Amino acid sequence: MTEPLLRAKMLTKHFVTPRTAQTVKAVNGVSFDMFAGKTVGMVGESGSGKSTVGRMVVRLLKPTQGSVAFRGQDISLLPDRAVRRLRVDLQMVFQDPWSALNPRMRVKRIIQEPLLLHSKLSSSERSDRAEEIARSVHLNTDLLTRFPGELSGGQLQRVCIARAIATNPALIVLDEPTSSLDLSVRAGILDLLQELRENTGAAMLFISHDLGTVRLVSDHILVLYLGHIIESGPMNKVFDEPAHPYTQTLLSAHLPADPHADLHRHLLDGEIPSPIDMPPGCPFSTRCPLVREDCRTALPPMVDIDDGAQRAACIRIPEGTNQVNC
Ligand SMILES: Nc1ncnc2c1ncn2[C@@H]1O[C@H](COP(=O)(O)OP(=O)(O)O)[C@@H](O)[C@H]1O
Ligand SMILES: [Mg+2]
Repeated sequence: MTEPLLRAKMLTKHFVTPRTAQTVKAVNGVSFDMFAGKTVGMVGESGSGKSTVGRMVVRLLKPTQGSVAFRGQDISLLPDRAVRRLRVDLQMVFQDPWSALNPRMRVKRIIQEPLLLHSKLSSSERSDRAEEIARSVHLNTDLLTRFPGELSGGQLQRVCIARAIATNPALIVLDEPTSSLDLSVRAGILDLLQELRENTGAAMLFISHDLGTVRLVSDHILVLYLGHIIESGPMNKVFDEPAHPYTQTLLSAHLPADPHADLHRHLLDGEIPSPIDMPPGCPFSTRCPLVREDCRTALPPMVDIDDGAQRAACIRIPEGTNQVNC
């Protein structure tokens, strides 16, 4: 089997809020692998810990526990100086392109910035490369001399993506890259991501609360709930035969006719519990239609389904009583 490009092992992040000294258990023992040229889609409701996982993967955040091995090296505890060198290979695109870009910098300079920091290109080579990258994200090169304030949301997100791919990174985390954009421009950005997935060979971690979006771009899916992966597997397998009651419920709200629809409003009844006050046992037990007493006693382990490519954490799976009638 090929070695993973990145291996996250039991990643955990607990934030202690300074004012109230409460512990927010944002991420609780998340493990997954990423491979070159493959996209992992991470889906979960707001507050489930997606962004925190993404930030740990590119080492914008240190885990409380667990490790991130990139090309076999644990980067989770590297000193910041060494992390700067990693930036060439590990990049992130954020949800809100308006706040991600320096409003006083021209677009061309923004795209060149990573090259300035991480390459030895001459100024004219950098300029040529910036134009080349702009074209590869289908950004009109006339816009290169503009400031971010003069661009639309979709154009700004293209600038963010251009900046992220400037150094030919090995891995890109895309944190809800289309969520803050108008519906009309989302499809264009998703098409671009598809193109990059085919052309760059980079591994991508695509984060979204929207299953329809994740489905369009991912090879493998991780379903996150209260900082736990409750199901993972090949995209088609999880979509066709979801094993965890949570995944089944999510999918039942899925409207296949419109892959760009925002599904968040169709999600389950009731609120996701607070990561400050985690329920004992299965994190989904407070909302699960199939809950029974022993779900509340211990955290269910991930169990293999079929050949183990798909896995899910529900004690009903080995008994075959995990199907929700939805
Ligand atoms: N810096 C922080 N300090 C305290 N709590 C945080 C911090 N960052 C995130 N959280 C909390 O961690 C949980 C997970 O957040 P996040 O990773 O942003 O989830 P998602 O991206 O899935 O919406 C949330 O309850 C959020 O409020
Ligand atoms: Mg987020």
